[in-house]
Amino acid sequence: METLPDGIDLAARVIADSKYVVAMTGAGMSVESGIPPFRGTNGLWTKYGTPSMDGYRQFRADPEAYWDRQINAQIDEHILELREALRNAKPHPGHFALVELVNLGHIKSVITQNIDGLDLKAGMGDQLIEIHGNRSRLRCIGCSKRTDLNDFVPLFMPDPCDECGQPVKFDAVMFGEPIVPEVMAAAREEIHRADCVVAIGTSATVRPASGLLWVARHRSKGERSNGSAAVEDAKLIEINPSPTKLSSICDVVIRATAGDGVPALVRALRTITAPAVN
Ligand code: APR
Repeated sequence: METLPDGIDLAARVIADSKYVVAMTGAGMSVESGIPPFRGTNGLWTKYGTPSMDGYRQFRADPEAYWDRQINAQIDEHILELREALRNAKPHPGHFALVELVNLGHIKSVITQNIDGLDLKAGMGDQLIEIHGNRSRLRCIGCSKRTDLNDFVPLFMPDPCDECGQPVKFDAVMFGEPIVPEVMAAAREEIHRADCVVAIGTSATVRPASGLLWVARHRSKGERSNGSAAVEDAKLIEINPSPTKLSSICDVVIRATAGDGVPALVRALRTITAPAVN
């Protein structure tokens, strides 16, 4: 019998006893697929330094110059390394286990901060909210119309949006760029419904996405529609090999990688929800 990381049984019990569980994943979810994280050990920013935070302002000022830099690879070294890793990445057992938790009904939705699309490649459906967009799509900055690139990398600046004429960029959200309103609203709605949130592979540092974790934690203090039943604060579970700023407010902390922790959670939930042998 494979030994389970500490906390897995308690986490499985919390999930099994919850009504509406939501997962929030970060770059750590894809590390075992060969995609480096941004912060911490082997983080791209640890290696190359924090990039400029005004990419979106630069894009808005001169979309043509933005696309020229993209196409001629005159971009940050960390983007070049990330692009190479994204090109070769495949889902790992942790991604498939997360899809299984959704298919088994234990997790109702997944809010991912990742742009790698690996959850979709692992078989996840419309339970997925890609809060920072997806690297293999283009998006109009006016009407948010999206176009799938299907792994094709544009060799020239895309035409303006055929719906509204505004410029088009990669769907992946840039620093300084607002999250697409309907995506943010969907993520907020899921967090509002959640009585348990599982944070997997995120440093919980980048708002507004990470702020949703604290919103869930303090759900009972949030505004409620008139007459709605009192809500309790959501339970928080963290799966991360290292401590984060979220760790101290979690009900369960599992010091494991996504590739070990999520499949272990599936095994533990199968055990406690298996029909009793009579
Ligand atoms: N399994 C699980 N977690 C891991 C693993 C692993 N194999 N390896 C590293 N981690 C953890 C690290 O301990 C860290 O807490 O993953 C986390 C990665 O943190 P960040 O690099 O900050 O990534 P994330 O939290 O997703 O950042 C949020 O910031 O750079 C922006 O837009 C980018 O979506 C990203 C956002």
